[in-house]
Amino acid sequence: MKIIALSDLHVDSNNTTWANRSLKICEKVASLEADVLLFGGDMAASYNPNNPNDSMNQAFKILGQFKGTKLWYAGNNDLETLKTSSLDQYFQELHVRFQTHGFHLLDKEPVVIEDIGFMGNVGWYDSSFFDILPNHETNPNFPKNLHDARQRAEHYFSTMEFAGIVNEGFTSEDFFLQCWNKLKQDAKKLQVDPKVNSIVVGTHFVGADKFIQYGENPKYDYYNLFMGSRSFAQIYNHSKVSLALVGHTHRDDNHLVGNQRVFNISSTSRQPYNEFELIKSADQYKIIWTIPRGDLK
Ligand SMILES: [Fe+2]
Repeated sequence: MKIIALSDLHVDSNNTTWANRSLKICEKVASLEADVLLFGGDMAASYNPNNPNDSMNQAFKILGQFKGTKLWYAGNNDLETLKTSSLDQYFQELHVRFQTHGFHLLDKEPVVIEDIGFMGNVGWYDSSFFDILPNHETNPNFPKNLHDARQRAEHYFSTMEFAGIVNEGFTSEDFFLQCWNKLKQDAKKLQVDPKVNSIVVGTHFVGADKFIQYGENPKYDYYNLFMGSRSFAQIYNHSKVSLALVGHTHRDDNHLVGNQRVFNISSTSRQPYNEFELIKSADQYKIIWTIPRGDLK
């Protein structure tokens, strides 16, 4: 089974060079021959259903021309585009929105194609990657301990990022637990399904320290709080998992986490999209990963 996977296109970016490049990648990807297209979140941070040229809709419409099965899970930016539902119900609204272009939102429910189960969701963050290196340069503008950092993050979550779309008292910690519990539930469902021999799992947020860069500057050390959760790594090593994907950091790295190689599918100029082939050998699946380079910058 051939899978095309990419994330973080940000087609509504103020950087028009980036936005145009992303739409070109959509055209290229839509023309590829593969069984599955998986978009791993952060298509856009804005959406206007009344604008016929809306860039988020445009991008899904172009990708909708891809001939195989089309799957996606949400990114934090996509969640910021909610119009009619509260954050805890996001999967209903986002699923319906691009269903017309043939996309299934995995956050809502997993999908089984042949004997491969596809699951994933936005993932979210739980502060587990917040760490200030000893003797590292500090800056009064950014929190220096976990307590202050969490307080500031909660304030941003409820009064800025999701102002008006979170119910009273619903915290980013609540949202993390909602996403994490759903991941565990979906993984269990696929793991015990006798028709499923292999699982492809994705989260927009990252699930291991290896994807985090520490000590760059005080701002980014604080921003690491928003990068993901160590918990996700528990799922990577479930016996049926053949392919694990993350995004969000805008880096195209991959790392061994336990026994599982985890791929960051963030679209970069070096690596606009990824091609994976799952090949069955005996009762296991082998992954062949191809990086298409040079044809899209
Ligand atoms: Fe993101």
